[in-house]
Amino acid sequence: MLKLAIDFGTAVTKIFRIGSGIVLAEPTALTVSKETGEIRAFGAEAKRLLGKTAEATDVVFPVYEGEIVEERFAAALLEYFLAKCARRTFGGIEALFCVPCGIRVEAREKYYRVAKSAGISRVSFAETPYLVALGQDVPLSESNPVFALDIGAGKTSAAAFSLDGIIAGLTMNVGGTNMDIHLIDHIAELYNLKIGALTAEKLKNTIGSLIPGDLQQMVINGRDITTGRPRSVSVTSEDVLFPIRTYVDKILEYAELAMRKLPAEVSAAMCKNGVFLAGGVCNLAGFADYTADRLQMEAHLAPDVSTAVILGGGRVVGSNALMKKICLE
Ligand SMILES: Nc1ncnc2c1ncn2[C@@H]1O[C@H](COP(=O)(O)OP(=O)(O)OP(=O)(O)O)[C@@H](O)[C@H]1O
Ligand SMILES: [Mg+2]
Repeated sequence: MLKLAIDFGTAVTKIFRIGSGIVLAEPTALTVSKETGEIRAFGAEAKRLLGKTAEATDVVFPVYEGEIVEERFAAALLEYFLAKCARRTFGGIEALFCVPCGIRVEAREKYYRVAKSAGISRVSFAETPYLVALGQDVPLSESNPVFALDIGAGKTSAAAFSLDGIIAGLTMNVGGTNMDIHLIDHIAELYNLKIGALTAEKLKNTIGSLIPGDLQQMVINGRDITTGRPRSVSVTSEDVLFPIRTYVDKILEYAELAMRKLPAEVSAAMCKNGVFLAGGVCNLAGFADYTADRLQMEAHLAPDVSTAVILGGGRVVGSNALMKKICLE
C-alpha cells in the first residue's frame, strides 16, 4: 500500500510520500467556468490567474480557513495532485491528513468523502500542532508537555500536548490571508493605489517584518484610485507593518489564552521548553524574537517553517507506534 501524508492547506497543499519525502507543494486552487462549472486549470497555474481571469472564470480555493468548503472541487484537485505525485499502485493509497486542532466530526467527514472520491482507500487524521513538534524532531514523551503553533494562510492552531494527547488546544480563523486583505486597504489609504491579492501577498512575503526599524523596500505596481491609471510606488517594511502586526498580535493573544487554561505544572514545564513555531506566516522576518518577547518564553522556529507540518505528517504515517499515539479516533 502506498502511504502518504497530505496537508490540504488553505493556501498550499503539501504531500509527503513514504520512501520519497515531500513530493508536492502547490497552491490549493483551481479555475472554474462560471457558466458550465467545468474545471479549467489546477494548482499553480490556477493561482497565477488570480485577479486576471475573464469574468466568466472563477478562481476557487476549495479549502477555507482550514476546512473543506467545496467538496466537488476539493476532490477534483486532490485527484489531480495524486495523479502528479502518487500514481496508483497495487493495494491502494493510505493517507494521513494534517488537520486543524479540534476539528469537528462533520469537517472530518468531508475530508473522508473527498479522499474516497479521489481514490484514497484508508484515511486517518492528525492535528497540526503535534506535527509541528514532530517535524522538527522535538523529543516528545508522556511526561514532558510542549506548546506549538501552526500559523497558516487561513487558520492558526495552537496546542499544549504530550505524547499522551492534547492538554489544551484551539484553532482560530486568523492567518496570512487576513494580513493580505488588510494590506490591500492599507496601501489604498497610504498611496491611493489599488493593488491585487497576489501583489499584497508578495509584498507581505518579501518585505513583511516584525524587526523594529527594518528598512527593506519593494516597488509595486497598481492602479491609481483617482485617475485609474497604472502607477508604481516604493513601499517600505514600516508601511506594511500595521496590517501584519495587527494579526500577529491577535494570534499571540489567542495563544496566551490557550496557555492560561493549563494546569500550573503543565504551564511551568511548557514555559521551560518554549514554544515551537511553524506554518508559512512564521517566515516573517523577526517572527521568533517577536513571539518570544510577547509570550515571555523561548521561541523555536522550525528549520523550514513551511514544511514542518508535512514532515511531521510523514514521520507519523511512517511509524505504526506514532499512528496509534497521535491519530484522531
Ligand atoms: N516569507 C513569508 N512571509 C510571510 N508570510 C508568508 C511567507 N511565505 C509564505 N507566507 C504565507 O504563509 C501562508 C501559507 O502558509 P502555509 O502553507 O503554512 O498555509 P496553509 O497550510 O496553506 O494554510 P492553513 O494551514 O491555514 O490551512 C500564506 O498566507 C503565505 O502568504
Ligand atoms: Mg497549514
